[in-house]
Amino acid sequence: MNTRRHLLSMDDLSAAEIASILQFAERLRHEGNAGAFRQILAGSTLAMIFEKPSLRTRMTFDVGMKQLGGNAVYLAPSEIQIGKRESVEDVARNLSRWVEVVMARTFAHETVAGLAEHGTVPIINALSDHEHPCQALAFGQLIFAERGGLEGTHVVFIGDGNNVAHSLMLLAAKTGMRFTLACPEGYDPDEGVTARCEEIGGDISVVRDAAAAVADADFIYTDVWTSMGQEEEKERRLKDFAAYQVNADLLARAPENALVTHCLPAHRGEEVTADVIDGPRSRAFDEAENRLHAQKAVLVFLLAPDRLSE
Ligand code: CP
Ligand code: NVA
Repeated sequence: MNTRRHLLSMDDLSAAEIASILQFAERLRHEGNAGAFRQILAGSTLAMIFEKPSLRTRMTFDVGMKQLGGNAVYLAPSEIQIGKRESVEDVARNLSRWVEVVMARTFAHETVAGLAEHGTVPIINALSDHEHPCQALAFGQLIFAERGGLEGTHVVFIGDGNNVAHSLMLLAAKTGMRFTLACPEGYDPDEGVTARCEEIGGDISVVRDAAAAVADADFIYTDVWTSMGQEEEKERRLKDFAAYQVNADLLARAPENALVTHCLPAHRGEEVTADVIDGPRSRAFDEAENRLHAQKAVLVFLLAPDRLSE
């Protein structure tokens, strides 16, 4: 029986698995690159498929894999041309003969899911149009480090019900966090994700009033209003989201100890102002650092799961 695991969605992980990945990620953060896990993935190679641009994802997977003793190979959008030059199925079957694990940043979620269906190695979703689970884990690690645990934390997402929002919602539902998403009409999260969160027993609300939403927030999260692939909608989105900027006025409505974060890249002056994202309550760059630790923990979870509990 093939027992390989994937990380296509936050829903692929149980609450206990999320907890052990975050604890291991925190251990890696404290130990740095000099700890006991330097050679844990020696001889393993990660293939990195990108259909979209990236700074954080490319760097953290490449550096992370090397810090664990393995290798990473970057495949640019123009190289594979997945589904055009070669089918998803054949790309998966080829890569499975050469590498131990694949990460893919895709437009259609079906592409990353198809790699998992047709390959024989673990597949990691490094952002699809539907989810961004690696970002959610980095955020989970941030909350863990700041507050000592996730349960009971109130996360308020201001902006589009997009891929990042979907993964954060599922993270919240699985770990007992309260999650409020404030967005304009027409930008609600996917109904299937909302229904799944309800099924898990999550405390999830979608509201229109951003100021009211942050009144008892622990973390305020935001992301670009126009995601990669939606560029032709940019002008309409700038208008539709005008009342959903994370700025000093909004922060004044939140508790004094509420923190702000962002998956990055940030568009200062659009979804967030410079004074907020570059200010003392911003943790966006801590979260970016956590991408490295959380993804190293995911790689160990997928390739050497017994080592996670050491
Ligand atoms: N947050 C994030 O995934 O960043 P990149 O698009 O730069 O990888
Ligand atoms: N929602 C954004 C996240 C970028 C990391 C996008 O998909 O472009």
